[in-house]
Amino acid sequence: MAGRDLGIIRDGGMLVRDGKIDMVGPSDKIDINGAEVFDARGKVVLPGFIDAHTHLVFAGNRLDDFERRARGETYEQIAKAGGGIWSSVKKTRAASEDDLLAEARKHARWFLKCGATTVEAKSGYGLSLDEEIKILRVIHRLNEMPMEFVPTFLGAHAIPEEFRGTPERYVDLVVEEMLPRVASNKLAEYCDVFCERGYFDVEQSRKILSAAKKLGLGLRIHADQLTNNGGADLAAELGAVTADHLEQTDERGIAAMKRAGVQPVLLPGSVYSLGGNRYPRAREMIDAGLDVVLATDFNPGSSPTPSLPMVCSIAITEMKMTPAECLTAATINAARSLGRADKIGSLEIGKQADFSIFDCEDYRELMYWFGFPQTHAVFVGGQRVYP
Ligand code: NIG
Ligand code: FE
Repeated sequence: MAGRDLGIIRDGGMLVRDGKIDMVGPSDKIDINGAEVFDARGKVVLPGFIDAHTHLVFAGNRLDDFERRARGETYEQIAKAGGGIWSSVKKTRAASEDDLLAEARKHARWFLKCGATTVEAKSGYGLSLDEEIKILRVIHRLNEMPMEFVPTFLGAHAIPEEFRGTPERYVDLVVEEMLPRVASNKLAEYCDVFCERGYFDVEQSRKILSAAKKLGLGLRIHADQLTNNGGADLAAELGAVTADHLEQTDERGIAAMKRAGVQPVLLPGSVYSLGGNRYPRAREMIDAGLDVVLATDFNPGSSPTPSLPMVCSIAITEMKMTPAECLTAATINAARSLGRADKIGSLEIGKQADFSIFDCEDYRELMYWFGFPQTHAVFVGGQRVYP
């Protein structure tokens, strides 16, 4: 959806029954009939935000990388000098499953505080069979919280230190041992690969993703983030559900995604945070008719924010998306990319009553006043879960 018409209802109301939306419309038309009332007068009610790309489970932080960037070092230089993904892998491996869960719960509460109710979460800081499974188990255990987490297997996030000289052996490990275990134990719905120079090339990415597809997993790809190396084309070739990042994707990649029905997931928080100036060509993608998704890419290295309103603010300023397009990208389009558009992503009769209420009168204020949560309350399945 492009998101030109949001279907805003002034003085609107909603009746929730059994966790689902039973009625929605002008409040004087809603038949309250003794139901408990939550007064949202003077506020904005939106579908719960859906974050379709996060790396929510990791230990520690990357404060040193953050400070090094201020001294002018690039993401790739910092990774070579001992920071980067590998430094998070070491800390994540050293953490017990319970400690990792405690940290992940803290991150999850940040998402709720920013109005998100469904969050995709990738593994990828384990990079061995047992460690990747530990992270996927943590993602499953997060579902004890009153929000939904969608697990994605990202064993191909980086070549681990112990396979530095023999990357093909790591690819084989992912294909022959990790993927079959992940699939047979139903630990993930999707498989992702970091297709990038110095990480996994197109050939290796194709091998991993083709194997995942055969096992019935949906495909998502980190594509064309730092270099235009054919990631978007690969997503189209394999019929991936999404191609994510796309900072370097040109009109050819855009046309390929359009032909194959791949949804672009744009992550401007990572461009901002890495101090880059090359944002993905969102206008061209929307004008080509693609159902663009916006997501946080929440992770300790390149995008330490759980805030979709903040991401929308950057998308408006830097990518010239309209506020309505941003809202669509962070709700219904994101729901579609996670195969859940029939259940969540909009406030329509029959859908799950997941909604967030904000302390403002016009939804655009949410992206205009940036950098602090304006969340008043968050509901999942009709139950208040924040504050
Ligand atoms: O989406 N690009 C690869 N992965 C993350 C960064 C992860 C990290 O730096 O820890 C991303 O930007
Ligand atoms: Fe990412």
